[in-house]
Amino acid sequence: MISVDNFKKCAFKIAFVYEDEDMNTLPLNIRKIFNKKYKTNIPFIEENNVPVLYVGLGERSKFSFKKIKDIVAYSIKQIEKYSIEDVSLDISTFLKEYDIRCVSEIVLGVKLGLYKFKGYNTSKKQEKYNIFFQGYESCDEESIMEEIKLGSNIAEGVILARDLVNTPANMLTPIIMAEKIADMGKVAGVTVEVFDENYIMNTCMEAFYTVGKSSGNPPRLIVLRYLQDPSSKDITALVGKGVTCDTGGYCLKPSGSMEGIKGDMGGGAAVVGAIYSLAKNKIKANVVGIIPACENRISRESFIPGDVINSMAGKTIEVLNTDAEGRLILADAVTYAIQKENATKIIDIATLTGAVVNAIGFSTAGVLTNNNEFFKEFKEAYSKSCEQYWRFPICDEHRDMIKSDIADIKNIGKSYCGTITAGLFIEQFVENTPWIHLDIAGTAWVDTPLYEYQAKGATGAGVTSMYYLFDEKE
Ligand code: BES
Ligand code: MG
Ligand code: ZN
Repeated sequence: MISVDNFKKCAFKIAFVYEDEDMNTLPLNIRKIFNKKYKTNIPFIEENNVPVLYVGLGERSKFSFKKIKDIVAYSIKQIEKYSIEDVSLDISTFLKEYDIRCVSEIVLGVKLGLYKFKGYNTSKKQEKYNIFFQGYESCDEESIMEEIKLGSNIAEGVILARDLVNTPANMLTPIIMAEKIADMGKVAGVTVEVFDENYIMNTCMEAFYTVGKSSGNPPRLIVLRYLQDPSSKDITALVGKGVTCDTGGYCLKPSGSMEGIKGDMGGGAAVVGAIYSLAKNKIKANVVGIIPACENRISRESFIPGDVINSMAGKTIEVLNTDAEGRLILADAVTYAIQKENATKIIDIATLTGAVVNAIGFSTAGVLTNNNEFFKEFKEAYSKSCEQYWRFPICDEHRDMIKSDIADIKNIGKSYCGTITAGLFIEQFVENTPWIHLDIAGTAWVDTPLYEYQAKGATGAGVTSMYYLFDEKE
Protein backbone atom coordinates (compact mmCIF):
# COMPACT_ATOMS: atom_id res chain seq x y z
CA MET A 1 0.00 0.00 0.00
CA ILE A 2 1.29 3.45 -0.87
CA SER A 3 0.29 6.63 0.94
CA VAL A 4 1.66 10.05 1.78
CA ASP A 5 2.76 11.34 5.15
CA ASN A 6 5.52 13.86 5.54
CA PHE A 7 5.68 13.34 9.30
CA LYS A 8 5.24 9.61 9.71
CA LYS A 9 8.13 8.03 11.58
CA CYS A 10 8.87 4.77 9.79
CA ALA A 11 11.21 1.99 10.81
CA PHE A 12 13.16 2.56 7.63
CA LYS A 13 13.75 5.29 5.09
CA ILE A 14 15.01 5.35 1.52
CA ALA A 15 16.58 8.47 0.00
CA PHE A 16 18.23 9.19 -3.36
CA VAL A 17 21.47 11.05 -4.11
CA TYR A 18 23.23 12.18 -7.25
CA GLU A 19 26.95 11.67 -7.59
CA ASP A 20 27.65 15.40 -7.36
CA GLU A 21 25.63 15.82 -4.18
CA ASP A 22 27.56 16.75 -1.07
CA MET A 23 26.37 14.59 1.81
CA ASN A 24 28.09 16.70 4.38
CA THR A 25 25.63 15.77 7.12
CA LEU A 26 27.15 12.30 7.07
CA PRO A 27 30.44 11.34 8.76
CA LEU A 28 33.48 11.43 6.52
CA ASN A 29 34.12 7.68 6.62
CA ILE A 30 30.64 6.97 5.24
CA ARG A 31 30.97 9.69 2.59
CA LYS A 32 34.25 8.15 1.51
CA ILE A 33 32.99 4.62 0.94
CA PHE A 34 29.66 5.49 -0.73
CA ASN A 35 30.40 6.33 -4.36
CA LYS A 36 26.78 7.26 -5.28
CA LYS A 37 27.08 5.52 -8.65
CA TYR A 38 23.84 4.35 -10.31
CA LYS A 39 22.34 1.40 -8.45
CA THR A 40 24.64 1.44 -5.44
CA ASN A 41 23.43 1.92 -1.87
CA ILE A 42 24.61 2.40 1.67
CA PRO A 43 22.60 1.80 4.85
CA PHE A 44 23.22 4.34 7.60
CA ILE A 45 21.71 5.08 11.01
CA GLU A 46 20.84 8.76 11.22
CA GLU A 47 21.07 10.84 14.38
CA ASN A 48 17.39 10.44 15.25
CA ASN A 49 17.89 6.68 15.10
CA VAL A 50 16.16 6.07 11.79
CA PRO A 51 17.99 3.71 9.47
CA VAL A 52 18.32 5.30 6.03
CA LEU A 53 19.19 3.56 2.83
CA TYR A 54 20.93 6.02 0.52
CA VAL A 55 20.63 5.03 -3.12
CA GLY A 56 22.97 6.41 -5.76
CA LEU A 57 21.53 7.97 -8.92
CA GLY A 58 24.91 8.32 -10.62
CA GLU A 59 25.80 11.40 -12.66
CA ARG A 60 23.05 13.98 -12.82
CA SER A 61 23.54 14.52 -16.57
CA LYS A 62 23.16 10.81 -17.29
CA PHE A 63 20.05 10.36 -15.19
CA SER A 64 16.69 10.83 -16.92
CA PHE A 65 12.95 10.51 -16.40
CA LYS A 66 13.15 7.09 -18.02
CA LYS A 67 15.35 5.80 -15.20
CA ILE A 68 13.02 6.73 -12.32
CA LYS A 69 11.05 3.48 -12.49
CA ASP A 70 14.24 1.44 -12.63
CA ILE A 71 16.02 3.04 -9.68
CA VAL A 72 12.90 3.13 -7.52
CA ALA A 73 12.31 -0.57 -8.20
CA TYR A 74 15.96 -1.26 -7.34
CA SER A 75 15.72 0.63 -4.06
CA ILE A 76 12.41 -0.87 -2.96
CA LYS A 77 13.68 -4.40 -3.59
CA GLN A 78 16.46 -3.75 -1.06
CA ILE A 79 13.90 -3.76 1.75
CA GLU A 80 13.21 -7.43 1.12
CA LYS A 81 16.52 -8.11 2.88
CA TYR A 82 15.18 -6.60 6.08
CA SER A 83 12.33 -7.60 8.27
CA ILE A 84 10.26 -4.42 8.15
CA GLU A 85 6.77 -3.32 7.26
CA ASP A 86 6.77 0.47 7.19
CA VAL A 87 9.09 2.27 4.81
CA SER A 88 9.30 5.92 3.92
CA LEU A 89 10.45 6.92 0.47
CA ASP A 90 11.96 10.38 0.15
CA ILE A 91 10.81 11.53 -3.30
CA SER A 92 12.10 15.12 -3.00
CA THR A 93 15.11 14.46 -5.25
CA PHE A 94 12.79 13.61 -8.16
CA LEU A 95 10.27 16.39 -7.48
CA LYS A 96 13.10 18.94 -7.61
CA GLU A 97 14.11 17.82 -11.10
CA TYR A 98 10.84 16.71 -12.76
CA ASP A 99 7.17 17.70 -12.87
CA ILE A 100 4.54 15.96 -10.79
CA ARG A 101 4.08 13.16 -13.36
CA CYS A 102 7.27 11.64 -11.95
CA VAL A 103 5.13 10.51 -8.99
CA SER A 104 3.24 7.98 -11.12
CA GLU A 105 6.57 6.69 -12.43
CA ILE A 106 7.74 6.28 -8.83
CA VAL A 107 4.54 4.36 -8.05
CA LEU A 108 5.15 2.11 -11.05
CA GLY A 109 8.70 1.52 -9.83
CA VAL A 110 7.45 0.50 -6.38
CA LYS A 111 4.58 -1.72 -7.51
CA LEU A 112 6.30 -3.39 -10.45
CA GLY A 113 9.56 -3.76 -8.52
CA LEU A 114 7.75 -5.67 -5.78
CA TYR A 115 5.63 -7.70 -8.23
CA LYS A 116 5.75 -11.44 -7.87
CA PHE A 117 3.45 -13.86 -9.62
CA LYS A 118 1.44 -15.45 -6.80
CA GLY A 119 1.96 -18.84 -8.39
CA TYR A 120 0.95 -22.18 -6.97
CA ASN A 121 3.74 -22.72 -4.49
CA THR A 122 1.72 -23.45 -1.38
CA SER A 123 4.54 -22.65 1.04
CA LYS A 124 5.31 -19.16 -0.33
CA LYS A 125 3.78 -16.17 1.39
CA GLN A 126 3.33 -12.73 -0.13
CA GLU A 127 5.16 -9.87 1.63
CA LYS A 128 3.13 -6.74 2.39
CA TYR A 129 4.69 -3.32 2.89
CA ASN A 130 3.30 0.06 3.83
CA ILE A 131 5.12 2.69 1.86
CA PHE A 132 4.90 6.36 2.76
CA PHE A 133 6.03 9.00 0.29
CA GLN A 134 7.82 11.87 1.99
CA GLY A 135 9.63 15.05 0.99
CA TYR A 136 6.88 16.53 -1.19
CA GLU A 137 6.71 19.89 0.63
CA SER A 138 7.11 21.66 -2.72
CA CYS A 139 3.70 20.35 -3.94
CA ASP A 140 0.29 20.18 -2.34
CA GLU A 141 -0.60 16.89 -0.75
CA GLU A 142 -3.80 16.44 -2.72
CA SER A 143 -2.13 16.53 -6.13
CA ILE A 144 0.47 14.05 -4.91
CA MET A 145 -2.28 11.74 -3.70
CA GLU A 146 -4.15 12.09 -6.98
CA GLU A 147 -0.99 11.22 -8.92
CA ILE A 148 -0.40 8.20 -6.70
CA LYS A 149 -3.90 6.97 -7.48
CA LEU A 150 -3.40 7.43 -11.21
CA GLY A 151 -0.04 5.65 -11.08
CA SER A 152 -1.44 2.79 -9.00
CA ASN A 153 -4.22 2.20 -11.53
CA ILE A 154 -1.67 2.07 -14.35
CA ALA A 155 0.53 -0.32 -12.35
CA GLU A 156 -2.49 -2.53 -11.67
CA GLY A 157 -3.16 -2.72 -15.41
CA VAL A 158 0.41 -3.88 -16.01
CA ILE A 159 0.13 -6.40 -13.16
CA LEU A 160 -3.17 -7.72 -14.52
CA ALA A 161 -1.47 -8.33 -17.87
CA ARG A 162 1.52 -10.00 -16.18
CA ASP A 163 -0.70 -12.30 -14.12
CA LEU A 164 -2.66 -13.42 -17.19
CA VAL A 165 0.51 -14.19 -19.13
CA ASN A 166 2.17 -15.99 -16.21
CA THR A 167 -0.84 -18.24 -15.70
CA PRO A 168 -0.24 -21.72 -17.14
CA ALA A 169 -2.27 -22.78 -20.17
CA ASN A 170 -4.20 -25.46 -18.27
CA MET A 171 -5.44 -22.77 -15.88
CA LEU A 172 -6.14 -20.20 -18.58
CA THR A 173 -8.14 -21.79 -21.38
CA PRO A 174 -10.01 -19.40 -23.69
CA ILE A 175 -13.14 -19.92 -21.57
CA ILE A 176 -11.35 -19.16 -18.29
CA MET A 177 -9.61 -16.17 -19.88
CA ALA A 178 -13.02 -14.80 -20.92
CA GLU A 179 -14.34 -15.29 -17.38
CA LYS A 180 -11.37 -13.52 -15.83
CA ILE A 181 -11.76 -10.59 -18.24
CA ALA A 182 -15.49 -10.38 -17.49
CA ASP A 183 -14.63 -10.17 -13.77
CA MET A 184 -12.16 -7.39 -14.50
CA GLY A 185 -14.85 -5.58 -16.49
CA LYS A 186 -17.15 -5.62 -13.45
CA VAL A 187 -14.45 -4.16 -11.20
CA ALA A 188 -13.38 -1.42 -13.61
CA GLY A 189 -16.71 -0.55 -15.25
CA VAL A 190 -16.05 -1.96 -18.72
CA THR A 191 -18.70 -3.83 -20.71
CA VAL A 192 -17.44 -7.27 -21.65
CA GLU A 193 -19.18 -9.48 -24.18
CA VAL A 194 -18.03 -13.00 -24.92
CA PHE A 195 -18.89 -14.86 -28.13
CA ASP A 196 -18.64 -18.65 -28.37
CA GLU A 197 -17.48 -20.97 -31.14
CA ASN A 198 -20.92 -21.02 -32.78
CA TYR A 199 -20.94 -17.24 -33.12
CA ILE A 200 -17.40 -17.38 -34.50
CA MET A 201 -18.46 -19.95 -37.10
CA ASN A 202 -21.74 -18.27 -37.98
CA THR A 203 -20.02 -14.90 -38.44
CA CYS A 204 -17.77 -16.56 -41.02
CA MET A 205 -14.59 -15.98 -39.02
CA GLU A 206 -13.20 -19.06 -40.69
CA ALA A 207 -9.53 -18.22 -40.15
CA PHE A 208 -10.06 -17.83 -36.40
CA TYR A 209 -12.42 -20.80 -36.23
CA THR A 210 -9.95 -23.03 -38.06
CA VAL A 211 -7.19 -22.42 -35.52
CA GLY A 212 -9.61 -22.71 -32.59
CA LYS A 213 -11.07 -26.06 -33.63
CA SER A 214 -7.65 -27.68 -33.26
CA SER A 215 -8.36 -28.00 -29.54
CA GLY A 216 -10.98 -29.53 -27.27
CA ASN A 217 -10.96 -26.23 -25.39
CA PRO A 218 -13.15 -24.13 -27.69
CA PRO A 219 -12.27 -20.58 -28.79
CA ARG A 220 -13.84 -17.38 -27.50
CA LEU A 221 -14.07 -13.92 -29.02
CA ILE A 222 -13.78 -11.51 -26.10
CA VAL A 223 -14.95 -7.94 -26.66
CA LEU A 224 -14.40 -5.12 -24.15
CA ARG A 225 -16.26 -1.86 -24.77
CA TYR A 226 -15.14 1.36 -23.11
CA LEU A 227 -17.00 4.13 -24.92
CA GLN A 228 -16.61 7.20 -22.74
CA ASP A 229 -16.07 10.09 -25.12
CA PRO A 230 -19.35 11.18 -26.72
CA SER A 231 -17.61 14.27 -28.18
CA SER A 232 -15.61 12.12 -30.58
CA LYS A 233 -16.65 9.85 -33.42
CA ASP A 234 -13.35 8.00 -33.23
CA ILE A 235 -13.40 4.43 -32.00
CA THR A 236 -10.00 2.83 -31.57
CA ALA A 237 -9.92 -0.95 -31.64
CA LEU A 238 -7.17 -2.62 -29.64
CA VAL A 239 -6.92 -6.10 -31.09
CA GLY A 240 -4.80 -8.48 -29.01
CA LYS A 241 -3.66 -11.98 -29.88
CA GLY A 242 -5.06 -14.40 -27.31
CA VAL A 243 -3.49 -17.76 -28.09
CA THR A 244 -3.58 -19.31 -24.61
CA CYS A 245 -1.41 -22.19 -25.76
CA ASP A 246 0.66 -22.35 -28.95
CA THR A 247 2.18 -25.75 -29.59
CA GLY A 248 2.62 -24.88 -33.26
CA GLY A 249 -0.05 -27.41 -34.27
CA TYR A 250 1.03 -29.98 -36.89
CA CYS A 251 4.07 -27.74 -37.55
CA LEU A 252 4.98 -28.68 -34.00
CA LYS A 253 7.47 -26.52 -32.18
CA PRO A 254 10.72 -28.18 -31.05
CA SER A 255 10.65 -28.92 -27.31
CA GLY A 256 13.15 -26.13 -26.56
CA SER A 257 10.69 -23.57 -27.91
CA MET A 258 7.75 -24.92 -25.95
CA GLU A 259 8.57 -23.16 -22.70
CA GLY A 260 6.91 -19.94 -23.76
CA ILE A 261 3.76 -21.43 -25.20
CA LYS A 262 1.54 -20.23 -22.37
CA GLY A 263 2.63 -16.64 -23.02
CA ASP A 264 1.17 -16.35 -26.49
CA MET A 265 -1.74 -14.27 -25.26
CA GLY A 266 0.56 -11.39 -24.25
CA GLY A 267 -1.10 -9.07 -26.78
CA GLY A 268 -4.58 -9.85 -25.48
CA ALA A 269 -3.38 -9.42 -21.90
CA ALA A 270 -1.91 -6.00 -22.78
CA VAL A 271 -5.27 -4.93 -24.22
CA VAL A 272 -7.01 -5.97 -21.00
CA GLY A 273 -4.43 -4.15 -18.86
CA ALA A 274 -4.60 -0.94 -20.88
CA ILE A 275 -8.41 -0.81 -20.89
CA TYR A 276 -8.49 -1.57 -17.15
CA SER A 277 -6.17 1.39 -16.45
CA LEU A 278 -8.13 3.72 -18.76
CA ALA A 279 -11.41 2.83 -17.06
CA LYS A 280 -10.02 3.10 -13.52
CA ASN A 281 -8.55 6.51 -14.31
CA LYS A 282 -11.77 7.58 -16.08
CA ILE A 283 -9.92 8.68 -19.21
CA LYS A 284 -12.13 10.22 -21.90
CA ALA A 285 -11.82 7.85 -24.87
CA ASN A 286 -13.68 5.42 -27.11
CA VAL A 287 -11.83 2.14 -27.04
CA VAL A 288 -12.94 -1.36 -27.98
CA GLY A 289 -10.74 -4.29 -27.01
CA ILE A 290 -11.03 -7.36 -29.20
CA ILE A 291 -9.34 -10.58 -28.18
CA PRO A 292 -9.58 -13.71 -30.28
CA ALA A 293 -8.74 -16.38 -27.68
CA CYS A 294 -7.97 -19.96 -28.69
CA GLU A 295 -5.46 -22.78 -28.48
CA ASN A 296 -3.24 -24.03 -31.29
CA ARG A 297 -2.92 -27.78 -30.87
CA ILE A 298 -2.75 -31.12 -32.61
CA SER A 299 -5.98 -33.11 -32.88
CA ARG A 300 -8.17 -34.90 -35.37
CA GLU A 301 -9.83 -31.55 -36.09
CA SER A 302 -6.63 -29.58 -36.61
CA PHE A 303 -5.82 -27.80 -39.81
CA ILE A 304 -2.74 -28.99 -41.68
CA PRO A 305 -0.20 -27.33 -43.94
CA GLY A 306 -1.53 -26.92 -47.46
CA ASP A 307 -5.12 -26.27 -46.38
CA VAL A 308 -6.91 -23.36 -47.99
CA ILE A 309 -9.35 -21.54 -45.74
CA ASN A 310 -11.65 -18.54 -46.00
CA SER A 311 -11.84 -15.49 -43.75
CA MET A 312 -14.52 -13.10 -42.51
CA ALA A 313 -13.34 -10.56 -45.09
CA GLY A 314 -13.85 -13.15 -47.85
CA LYS A 315 -10.15 -13.43 -48.69
CA THR A 316 -8.90 -16.97 -49.17
CA ILE A 317 -5.76 -18.04 -47.32
CA GLU A 318 -3.30 -20.79 -48.14
CA VAL A 319 -1.98 -22.12 -44.84
CA LEU A 320 1.60 -23.24 -45.32
CA ASN A 321 2.56 -23.27 -41.65
CA THR A 322 0.17 -24.03 -38.80
CA ASP A 323 2.54 -22.30 -36.35
CA ALA A 324 1.85 -18.97 -38.08
CA GLU A 325 -1.58 -19.01 -36.40
CA GLY A 326 -1.53 -15.56 -34.81
CA ARG A 327 -2.00 -13.68 -38.07
CA LEU A 328 -4.93 -15.94 -38.98
CA ILE A 329 -6.94 -15.16 -35.88
CA LEU A 330 -5.94 -11.48 -35.93
CA ALA A 331 -7.07 -11.12 -39.55
CA ASP A 332 -10.64 -12.06 -38.59
CA ALA A 333 -10.52 -10.01 -35.39
CA VAL A 334 -9.50 -6.95 -37.41
CA THR A 335 -12.38 -7.52 -39.86
CA TYR A 336 -14.73 -7.92 -36.91
CA ALA A 337 -13.43 -4.59 -35.51
CA ILE A 338 -14.24 -2.80 -38.76
CA GLN A 339 -17.54 -4.49 -39.62
CA LYS A 340 -19.13 -5.02 -36.21
CA GLU A 341 -17.56 -2.44 -33.91
CA ASN A 342 -17.16 0.42 -36.43
CA ALA A 343 -13.52 0.93 -35.54
CA THR A 344 -12.00 4.05 -37.12
CA LYS A 345 -8.46 3.22 -35.98
CA ILE A 346 -6.84 -0.11 -35.25
CA ILE A 347 -3.91 -1.20 -33.15
CA ASP A 348 -3.12 -4.87 -33.15
CA ILE A 349 -0.69 -6.25 -30.62
CA ALA A 350 0.73 -9.76 -30.59
CA THR A 351 3.55 -12.07 -29.62
CA LEU A 352 3.70 -12.76 -33.31
CA THR A 353 7.16 -13.66 -34.59
CA GLY A 354 10.43 -15.10 -33.35
CA ALA A 355 11.94 -13.00 -36.14
CA VAL A 356 11.36 -9.77 -34.21
CA VAL A 357 13.62 -11.11 -31.44
CA ASN A 358 16.35 -11.90 -33.96
CA ALA A 359 16.02 -8.42 -35.42
CA ILE A 360 15.80 -6.18 -32.35
CA GLY A 361 16.02 -8.31 -29.21
CA PHE A 362 14.12 -8.24 -25.93
CA SER A 363 14.20 -4.52 -25.17
CA THR A 364 12.33 -3.22 -28.19
CA ALA A 365 9.07 -4.16 -29.90
CA GLY A 366 8.51 -4.03 -33.66
CA VAL A 367 6.04 -1.68 -35.35
CA LEU A 368 4.43 -1.63 -38.79
CA THR A 369 1.95 1.06 -39.75
CA ASN A 370 0.08 2.46 -42.74
CA ASN A 371 -0.36 5.92 -41.27
CA ASN A 372 2.35 8.43 -40.29
CA GLU A 373 -0.02 10.68 -38.30
CA PHE A 374 -1.28 7.81 -36.16
CA PHE A 375 2.27 6.58 -35.63
CA LYS A 376 3.30 10.06 -34.49
CA GLU A 377 0.58 9.96 -31.83
CA PHE A 378 1.69 6.52 -30.76
CA LYS A 379 5.31 7.65 -30.60
CA GLU A 380 4.39 10.42 -28.17
CA ALA A 381 2.51 7.87 -26.09
CA TYR A 382 5.31 5.34 -25.90
CA SER A 383 7.85 8.06 -25.09
CA LYS A 384 5.75 8.91 -22.03
CA SER A 385 5.56 5.25 -21.08
CA CYS A 386 9.33 4.78 -21.52
CA GLU A 387 8.78 1.61 -23.58
CA GLN A 388 10.88 1.17 -26.73
CA TYR A 389 9.61 0.48 -30.26
CA TRP A 390 11.15 0.43 -33.71
CA ARG A 391 9.29 0.91 -36.99
CA PHE A 392 9.96 -1.54 -39.82
CA PRO A 393 9.82 -0.56 -43.52
CA ILE A 394 7.05 -1.68 -45.86
CA CYS A 395 7.72 -2.12 -49.58
CA ASP A 396 5.76 -3.76 -52.39
CA GLU A 397 8.53 -6.35 -52.61
CA HIS A 398 7.59 -7.38 -49.07
CA ARG A 399 3.92 -7.62 -50.03
CA ASP A 400 4.88 -9.86 -52.96
CA MET A 401 6.40 -12.34 -50.50
CA ILE A 402 2.99 -13.46 -49.22
CA LYS A 403 1.25 -13.80 -52.59
CA SER A 404 -0.13 -17.31 -53.07
CA ASP A 405 -0.41 -19.31 -56.29
CA ILE A 406 -3.73 -20.87 -55.35
CA ALA A 407 -5.37 -18.43 -52.89
CA ASP A 408 -5.57 -14.66 -52.30
CA ILE A 409 -2.74 -14.77 -49.77
CA LYS A 410 -0.52 -17.26 -47.93
CA ASN A 411 0.29 -17.25 -44.23
CA ILE A 412 4.09 -17.32 -44.46
CA GLY A 413 6.77 -15.81 -46.67
CA LYS A 414 10.25 -17.21 -47.25
CA SER A 415 12.44 -17.33 -44.18
CA TYR A 416 13.41 -13.66 -44.50
CA CYS A 417 11.98 -10.59 -42.77
CA GLY A 418 9.35 -12.66 -40.96
CA THR A 419 8.22 -9.74 -38.83
CA ILE A 420 7.37 -7.65 -41.88
CA THR A 421 5.54 -10.41 -43.76
CA ALA A 422 3.53 -11.30 -40.63
CA GLY A 423 2.46 -7.68 -40.22
CA LEU A 424 1.68 -7.31 -43.91
CA PHE A 425 -0.59 -10.34 -43.72
CA ILE A 426 -2.72 -8.39 -41.24
CA GLU A 427 -2.44 -5.25 -43.39
CA GLN A 428 -4.43 -7.11 -46.06
CA PHE A 429 -7.44 -6.99 -43.72
CA VAL A 430 -7.33 -3.43 -42.33
CA GLU A 431 -8.68 -1.81 -45.53
CA ASN A 432 -8.06 1.96 -45.33
CA THR A 433 -8.28 2.18 -41.56
CA PRO A 434 -5.31 3.88 -39.89
CA TRP A 435 -3.46 0.95 -38.39
CA ILE A 436 -0.53 0.23 -36.11
CA HIS A 437 0.82 -3.29 -35.67
CA LEU A 438 2.90 -4.12 -32.58
CA ASP A 439 4.98 -7.29 -32.45
CA ILE A 440 5.84 -7.87 -28.79
CA ALA A 441 7.24 -11.41 -29.12
CA GLY A 442 10.57 -10.16 -27.72
CA THR A 443 9.35 -7.78 -25.03
CA ALA A 444 6.40 -9.61 -23.46
CA TRP A 445 8.49 -12.19 -21.62
CA VAL A 446 11.95 -12.09 -20.02
CA ASP A 447 13.93 -15.03 -18.69
CA THR A 448 16.57 -12.53 -17.60
CA PRO A 449 14.99 -9.22 -16.59
CA LEU A 450 16.49 -6.20 -18.36
CA TYR A 451 15.23 -3.66 -15.83
CA GLU A 452 14.70 -3.64 -12.07
CA TYR A 453 10.94 -3.19 -12.55
CA GLN A 454 10.70 -6.46 -14.44
CA ALA A 455 10.54 -9.92 -12.89
CA LYS A 456 11.40 -13.20 -14.59
CA GLY A 457 8.40 -14.06 -16.75
CA ALA A 458 5.74 -11.74 -18.11
CA THR A 459 6.53 -8.02 -18.42
CA GLY A 460 3.14 -6.51 -19.22
CA ALA A 461 4.62 -5.05 -22.43
CA GLY A 462 2.39 -2.65 -24.33
CA VAL A 463 0.02 -1.74 -21.50
CA THR A 464 1.46 1.67 -20.66
CA SER A 465 2.07 2.73 -24.28
CA MET A 466 -1.52 1.98 -25.26
CA TYR A 467 -2.75 3.66 -22.08
CA TYR A 468 -0.88 6.90 -22.79
CA LEU A 469 -2.27 7.04 -26.31
CA PHE A 470 -5.56 8.05 -24.68
CA ASP A 471 -4.35 9.77 -21.52
CA GLU A 472 -2.96 12.88 -23.15
CA LYS A 473 -2.32 14.93 -20.01
CA GLU A 474 1.07 16.62 -20.17
N1 BES B 1 3.74 -17.20 -30.97
C1 BES B 1 4.70 -17.45 -31.97
C2 BES B 1 5.79 -16.40 -32.03
C3 BES B 1 6.72 -16.34 -30.87
C4 BES B 1 7.96 -16.91 -30.96
C5 BES B 1 6.38 -15.67 -29.71
C6 BES B 1 8.84 -16.83 -29.90
C7 BES B 1 7.25 -15.60 -28.65
C8 BES B 1 8.48 -16.18 -28.74
C9 BES B 1 4.02 -17.55 -33.33
O1 BES B 1 2.76 -18.10 -33.34
C10 BES B 1 4.88 -18.37 -34.19
O2 BES B 1 4.99 -19.53 -33.92
N2 BES B 1 5.49 -17.78 -35.19
C11 BES B 1 6.37 -18.46 -36.09
C12 BES B 1 6.04 -17.99 -37.48
C13 BES B 1 6.71 -18.80 -38.55
C14 BES B 1 6.14 -20.21 -38.58
C15 BES B 1 6.49 -18.13 -39.87
C16 BES B 1 7.80 -18.08 -35.72
O3 BES B 1 8.06 -16.92 -35.40
O4 BES B 1 8.64 -18.97 -35.73
MG1 MG C 1 2.71 -20.19 -33.60
ZN1 ZN D 1 1.69 -18.01 -31.65
